[in-house]
Amino acid sequence: MPRTVLITGATGTVSTALIDALDGAEVNLRALVHDPARSPRAGGAEVVVGDLEDPRSLAPAFEGVQDVWLLTPNGPRAPEHHMNALWAARQAGVERVVRLSVVGAAHDAPNRSGRLHALSDRETEQCGMRWTILRPHWFMQNLLNEAGDISATGTFAMNMAAGRVGMIDARDIAECAARVLLDDPDRHHGRTYTLTGPRSLGFDEVAGELERALGRSVAYLPVSDDAKRKTLLGYGVPPWIVDMLEEYAQAYASGWGDFTTGTVAELLGRRPRDIADFVRDHAAAFTPAERRA
Ligand SMILES: NC(=O)c1ccc[n+]([C@@H]2O[C@H](COP(=O)([O-])OP(=O)(O)OC[C@H]3O[C@@H](n4cnc5c(N)ncnc54)[C@H](OP(=O)(O)O)[C@@H]3O)[C@@H](O)[C@H]2O)c1
Repeated sequence: MPRTVLITGATGTVSTALIDALDGAEVNLRALVHDPARSPRAGGAEVVVGDLEDPRSLAPAFEGVQDVWLLTPNGPRAPEHHMNALWAARQAGVERVVRLSVVGAAHDAPNRSGRLHALSDRETEQCGMRWTILRPHWFMQNLLNEAGDISATGTFAMNMAAGRVGMIDARDIAECAARVLLDDPDRHHGRTYTLTGPRSLGFDEVAGELERALGRSVAYLPVSDDAKRKTLLGYGVPPWIVDMLEEYAQAYASGWGDFTTGTVAELLGRRPRDIADFVRDHAAAFTPAERRA
């Protein structure tokens, strides 16, 4: 009998790619949304409503589930939301949790998001179910936040200085999650996988890749933390998220993210997607509407 997999964060970046990656697999997919008006790219998934902030709303969503793909949105209450989900999973008799954490999650991480993730990693390790933790590096998809500037001005401004980052395509994170979820529950139990792309890149190199793919000039403009903060706050990004992004940027600028691992290749049996693949596949997003083919 096919296992039932509950996908949390079902309208988000990684989970949308995970639903694609599980398309056609021998599983029953169930997608959790907290806002009934938001529909995930469901494929054949059953859509259920539940709010990670409200433990009582989660019980029906977790009933009859064997596997949970668990992610929490960024925020100071992420460990509470994660606990609510683990609580509901345990009550419902879930067998396995596959958790999305973050690169470098640790109690002494140089960013509070990494410290919050460490709390949920520890809780997962003792959850009494089978578990696997994925700790991905910086998502290439974050570059889509710069797509408006790149298409309008051919420049993008970030406070990463000359920092190099082993950035990963979120589609590869999703495919690793799918691999784990489709393998026997014992196979990856107790494992924590740090997932990166194939090479560590500076943002001037990212600009070069964009330039090649788009056939027009693209430049990276390193800016100060204060300048980036002002821009993000101007766009209405919540202050806690702005602080979080600044803490990561400072760590990356100091070389904290300058590494890669071979874990994606070990899990998938192929090289992870390169930034060149990412920019080619998303070229339209970085191109002004009137120049799109
Ligand atoms: N970006 C990076 O570079 C990076 C790197 C490593 C790890 N991470 C980690 O990745 C995680 C985020 O993954 P993502 O980027 O794929 O997610 P995302 O695109 O930010 O989407 C978040 C998802 O959570 C849902 N959600 C929000 N509040 C909820 C609630 N109260 N109850 C239930 N669902 C709720 C959202 O639904 P709505 O859309 O309906 O609000 C959405 O589906 C974070 O834990 C982050 O730390 C990020």
